[in-house]
Amino acid sequence: MGIYDQTYQRSLDDPEGFWADAAQGIDWIKPWDRVLDDASPPMYRWFPGGQLNTCYNALDRHVAAGRGDDTALIYDSPVTETIERFSFRALTEAVAKLAGAMASRGVGKGDRVIIYMPMVPEAAIAMLACARIGAVHSVVFGGFAAHELATRIDDAKPVMILSASCGIEPGRLVAYKPLLDGAIEQASHSVPRTLILQRPQLHADLIAGRDEDWAAAVDAAEPAACVPVLATDPLYILYTSGTTGVPKGIVRDNGGHAVALNWTMRHFYGVAPGEVFWAASDVGWVVGHSYIVYAPLLFGCATVLFEGKPVGTPDAGVYWRVIDQHKVAALFTAPTAFRAIKKEDPDGVLLGDHDISSLRTLFLAGERSDPDTIRWAEEKLHVPVIDHWWQTETGWAICGNPIGMELFPVKPGSATKAVPGWDIRALDPEAQEVAPGDVGALVAKLPLPPGTFPTLWNAEDRYRQAYLTDFPGYYKTGDAGFVDEDGYVHVMTRVDDVINVAGHRLSTGAMEEVLAAHQDVAECAVIGVADDLKGQLPLGFVVLKAGVDRPHGDIAREVVQMVRDQIGPVAAFKTALVVDRLPKTRSGKILRGTMRKIADGEEVSVPATIDDPQILDEIRAAVAS
Ligand code: COA
Ligand code: AMP
Repeated sequence: MGIYDQTYQRSLDDPEGFWADAAQGIDWIKPWDRVLDDASPPMYRWFPGGQLNTCYNALDRHVAAGRGDDTALIYDSPVTETIERFSFRALTEAVAKLAGAMASRGVGKGDRVIIYMPMVPEAAIAMLACARIGAVHSVVFGGFAAHELATRIDDAKPVMILSASCGIEPGRLVAYKPLLDGAIEQASHSVPRTLILQRPQLHADLIAGRDEDWAAAVDAAEPAACVPVLATDPLYILYTSGTTGVPKGIVRDNGGHAVALNWTMRHFYGVAPGEVFWAASDVGWVVGHSYIVYAPLLFGCATVLFEGKPVGTPDAGVYWRVIDQHKVAALFTAPTAFRAIKKEDPDGVLLGDHDISSLRTLFLAGERSDPDTIRWAEEKLHVPVIDHWWQTETGWAICGNPIGMELFPVKPGSATKAVPGWDIRALDPEAQEVAPGDVGALVAKLPLPPGTFPTLWNAEDRYRQAYLTDFPGYYKTGDAGFVDEDGYVHVMTRVDDVINVAGHRLSTGAMEEVLAAHQDVAECAVIGVADDLKGQLPLGFVVLKAGVDRPHGDIAREVVQMVRDQIGPVAAFKTALVVDRLPKTRSGKILRGTMRKIADGEEVSVPATIDDPQILDEIRAAVAS
């Protein structure tokens, strides 16, 4: 048996022993009473009774171990032409000061704090400062609009919001403060305090009595110490798209999270403390939480926080420049970023300007890695390219090629094998396992390993209903795919209304809710159509109310603007088509799958249940126009 097989088998046969060993990689204030509390299935808790502090484990302990001068965080911002390095000592001090400023304003253990920030070091500092004092952070991605932020404010009920004057997108400044003010205005929960980081590019007006200047608050603060929290206390809430417009608040606890993430760095990613790890994502996404902030720091790596894009900041060579300049050992990004680079520089000419010999591995996730992109990256970079599959819910990889243990042959289109801790099956609707190679619902046998999600914030019923009910004893991932005869897992598609646009997870259901609110729209459907660059793009169809005779172009433009205003530019919703009718089954269900096939130019067999087959021709004509 190889090292992977041994490790994997042990993780399933003796999960408590396996994860207790992994937990030795974390400093505990008080040991756990039990490794796994399995008294109330399907609800499980890891390390109950244990006490620790995640921020201590990410920062202070490395200083205490004599690594205070080593680099912890490299801020590389081509959009502001800034490079700034923080040692573990400097980062600890910065975090302790912000934590002190928050604590002196009444923020304490269990309080929620929303972080709505661009990719600046203060975003990571804010997350760690919350962890330091036991507050629960909820980071909201900067590309979401005020309405989405308001929804999260109402669900998380924060005592404070940490934000900045602006984000910087290529060619434009994104003023955050008007969005923040709008969200606070829209929300029913009242937010008593904010700290606003004034960036030199844009000054935000502060509202007296509520908004304070971040820098002044930090300057005047006393550093705060790490507060012991329970392993089972929440570290953060991260909202993600579900099938409706109401996002799901994924809860991550402190203990299992620290244990699992720390374990992945050596055993999955194959890096060593002191090396440079770069997750080119955003702190607003789970990849940013896990692999820009927590995992590299817990493990004692230096992490790169990059404020830029794979192309256009200034060009498609910026990734190679960052790898060269900071001696990056592992790069983790979304396939869409590589498609963007490949489109601009198909021959990889810009690679010639840089020495990327420090790079040992490229990791891709966030969407299915298409074989072309994998092959291009392998050819150009001459390093293993590892597709790994995971979700906001899981917090770390479910499947992947575990280079830290063993490198298996790559089968493009497959995320390779289940990571230790994960028992993955493909099931039919009756919850029976399908034959190898047959497509089914991808599920994970319970209990999920540590570091996943014990519940949804304020919504345990929804947690049980959405994930644990359809296949009793299993977690339903929401993805469909198959496990082949070699145990490789192939993730093919979502089974719900979630689409993946440039590695960003979005809900077509949420977009439909926006479209349906337009005064002239009687009904609508939004589908995800294939796109060479972004993987998928949303496409809207609207049927107008009887008697509406306004120009269709005007209505299409209005609904596009509504999605931008209410969900945000990140939805990349740019096209809406006005049609007379939508194809439906006789029972009235909209045939979104059939519409998607038509839009993608695939062969469509007329569904037996369709009400009126002629409508398919009308859809074809609308798409062609
Ligand atoms: N704040 C404000 N607006 C933002 C934003 C942010 N943090 N992030 C994106 N946006 C805006 C963009 O400016 C763009 O607006 P536009 O419609 O006015 O042009 C829109 O949201 C869509 O953004 P994006 O999806 O980034 O598309 P793009 O065309 O600007 O760039 C890629 C395309 C492929 C280069 C880019 O999507 C990318 O780098 N993707 C990697 C994704 C990733 O890291 N995923 C994380 C999972 S690992
Ligand atoms: P998110 O929660 O934003 O991380 O999105 C999770 C979803 O992205 C998954 O449920 C999949 O649909 C998709 N996804 C992520 N990684 C992969 C991958 N490596 N292969 C296929 N799909 C992926």
